[in-house]
Amino acid sequence: MIYVTGDIHGYSGDIKKLTAKNVTSKLTKNDYLIICGDFGLIWDTKHETMKEKMWIKWLQDQAWTTLFVDGNHECFPRLYTYPEKDWNGGKVHEIRSKILHLERGYVFELEGKKIFTMGGATSHDRGPATGDMASVGKYWWPEELPNDEEYARANASLDACGRKVDFIITHCLPTKLQDIISNNEYFNDALTDYLQGLVDTVEYEHWYCGHYHADRAMTDKITVLFNSVLEIGSKLQEVTRELGVPIYKKGKTVRFKYNGSEETGQIVRVMPWGNPAKKGEPCYNIQFLNSSKQALMVKESDIIDLA
Ligand SMILES: [Fe+2]
Repeated sequence: MIYVTGDIHGYSGDIKKLTAKNVTSKLTKNDYLIICGDFGLIWDTKHETMKEKMWIKWLQDQAWTTLFVDGNHECFPRLYTYPEKDWNGGKVHEIRSKILHLERGYVFELEGKKIFTMGGATSHDRGPATGDMASVGKYWWPEELPNDEEYARANASLDACGRKVDFIITHCLPTKLQDIISNNEYFNDALTDYLQGLVDTVEYEHWYCGHYHADRAMTDKITVLFNSVLEIGSKLQEVTRELGVPIYKKGKTVRFKYNGSEETGQIVRVMPWGNPAKKGEPCYNIQFLNSSKQALMVKESDIIDLA
């Protein structure tokens, strides 16, 4: 079985989700656990510290095999010094025999599933001053974003499998969804734009990412993970559709379920508090693109995606 989870940030405390009994006693030696970036146990600029060694050993000693894509909180120059090897259709850095870094732009084959990986993200906490070049190599590294070779590899890998995979694993979201989850506060960049381009050009069953330190279903097919540990292919049990906190904004064009079919339209009214007695989640009035009519009080959970 393959499981997925969000950022662990080294030994900061977020790794504790993996020490919970429901994880350690559930995952077996036949299982894989994929961390969607910000592994963070390769962080010291010079060498593995005692604490890094201790937690890496803890992971290595667990029954399962740990896999991770890189986030932004990794010491890239040191990450790239670990032995590189071919593994299940792509390349990995072997941190330990059971801890592997899934490099960017490959389609790995695992348990009969095709998994496309594209780590990396822009850091939002680049030390004392955001973007301060003096902090390069202390708090962030330019390698946090993919280079041309990695984009070319990603395109070639996707083309080679007919742009159809089972799962996509990244650290960050495509641009449009990042705007929503961050309230336009995170920088969009070449990587989020590249991922946005994949939304409609790659067929996939489900896409998981980390980075935003939240567990949230962004669409039916794209899930942000932090503390949840999910079987790959599954969705968050409790999809948080918070009354008063609508995901979508007025003016956005969306695909949505309506009377048993899929429609496209533009949101003309947002009702953050919906109709609590009836719906219990934010609702929207949506203008159909192909007629003058509107769909009224569409539940947020019936919106499939941004169009
Ligand atoms: Fe993070």
